[in-house]
Amino acid sequence: MTHVSDSRTAVVTGAASGMGRSTAEALVKDGWDVLALDRVATTFEAAGQTIQTIGVDVTRREDVRDAITANIAGRTVGLVANIAGIYPPSTLDDFTEDVYRKVFDVNVLGVLNVTAEAVQYMTEGGSVVNFASVDAFAVSRGQLLYGASKAAVVMLTKELALELAPRRIRVNAIAPGWVNTPGNAATGRMEAAAASIPLGRVGQPEEIARWVSILASQDAAYMTGETIVLSGGDVIR
Ligand SMILES: NC(=O)c1ccc[n+]([C@@H]2O[C@H](COP(=O)([O-])OP(=O)(O)OC[C@H]3O[C@@H](n4cnc5c(N)ncnc54)[C@H](O)[C@@H]3O)[C@@H](O)[C@H]2O)c1
Repeated sequence: MTHVSDSRTAVVTGAASGMGRSTAEALVKDGWDVLALDRVATTFEAAGQTIQTIGVDVTRREDVRDAITANIAGRTVGLVANIAGIYPPSTLDDFTEDVYRKVFDVNVLGVLNVTAEAVQYMTEGGSVVNFASVDAFAVSRGQLLYGASKAAVVMLTKELALELAPRRIRVNAIAPGWVNTPGNAATGRMEAAAASIPLGRVGQPEEIARWVSILASQDAAYMTGETIVLSGGDVIR
């Protein structure tokens, strides 16, 4: 029995940068047709194709609905990769209601909005892959709200897995540790981080992206509700 969709159309959020972009590139190389969404509308090349991100804010459900409806055009969706996320630092001392709303709106509500709208185009065997973080499992100094938002993503992944199982749609998540993305490189903390990671290096966006394909594939056909940690041993649970 197969639990993998015949559809090779994927919706990828956060596709303009970092792991979202790497995921869009990897999926195109694997023959997927990628509907790339990001707050930032941009274009880039992958496997000889030009990928254009559609400018949409995942916190705005109607905009998400319009973007998906306008671009799916009669196709079904085989994979939704919820990768858009923000990670501003926050502590009990300096958090504001505005930062709270932004972090939870993008990282949690955004996952719900995109999943709720895309799932209407999914059929049996479809797969949802959410991006959590090791910060959902282990404390990270100065990531009060971010860690809480990613813990919410882990639990949403479990709840959605249960809700969508009758439709034979699987929902899993990836919890990356330190990954060499533009946002992370800008912190200037990558070298110090690498020294403390058991496997001795930070992750590359491409090796995280690979797991999105794996989770959507027959290899993961019996897995749902799970969050996979990819951190080089930085967080072992
Ligand atoms: N970089 C890391 O080491 C790391 C570690 C653990 C988890 N993560 C998570 O992985 C995901 C990708 O991280 P990254 O470092 O590749 O990110 P990034 O900052 O390079 O890219 C994130 C993308 O999301 C988009 N985005 C932000 N808010 C949006 C919104 N409201 N609507 C639509 N698009 C929006 C941005 O425009 C950007 O293109 C995030 O969810 C992040 O929390 C990253």
